[in-house]
Amino acid sequence: MIKISPSILSADFVNLERDIARVSSADMLHVDVMDGCFVPNLTIGVPVVQSIRKCTDLFLDVHLMIDKPVRYVEAFAQAGADLLSVHLEADHPTRIREALRQMDRCGVKKAVALRPITKAEAVLPYLEELDLVLVMTVEPGFGGQAFLEEQLETVSQVRALIDRYHPACRLEVDGGVNAKTAPRVVAAGADTLVAGSAVYGAADPAAAIAALRGE
Ligand code: DX5
Ligand code: ZN
Repeated sequence: MIKISPSILSADFVNLERDIARVSSADMLHVDVMDGCFVPNLTIGVPVVQSIRKCTDLFLDVHLMIDKPVRYVEAFAQAGADLLSVHLEADHPTRIREALRQMDRCGVKKAVALRPITKAEAVLPYLEELDLVLVMTVEPGFGGQAFLEEQLETVSQVRALIDRYHPACRLEVDGGVNAKTAPRVVAAGADTLVAGSAVYGAADPAAAIAALRGE
């Protein structure tokens, strides 16, 4: 079953509650947290996640594009995140492990994210304990960028590793996913699709979500 996680980065932040209600047919809500260091952009922090939690029952898929994410795991978990993704490039392996341990302690689902430069095999040391792997198909930092074709290879490689070592783990793709690219990422093995501009840029977000699911 393909799950769709609309990214509120492309929503109207002044009307966030309205824009979250517009995607209520989705499976999750993707929240892009950026710190201006790990990526050259600043977006949403803990208080906003707290407010989002109060206005939706959607599963909150929180993508941490921040340096040393272990520092904020507990805060985002307490704010109401259901899943946290930490980038493998954002800290040393021992502290990525510590971040995953804290997610366990806080009772949130665990994911690692890969920038386009990172090889699929980088997930191996963590794979068996993960709920989800997030493969970026753009350079993280901004919505509305063009899909990086060469990342389809990484998606299929991560799919092969998941099938071999931990089939229950989900494979999420983020960046440039739209009605055209979605069938290709699904064919490469993705089962969870993040889409910002393709959902919020559409006249009918619910129809865009259905189209991404292949309905
Ligand atoms: C980019 C973010 C994405 C972004 C996707 O750094 O991680 O989640 O919102 O936007 P689109 O779907 O427009 O590429
Ligand atoms: Zn994201």
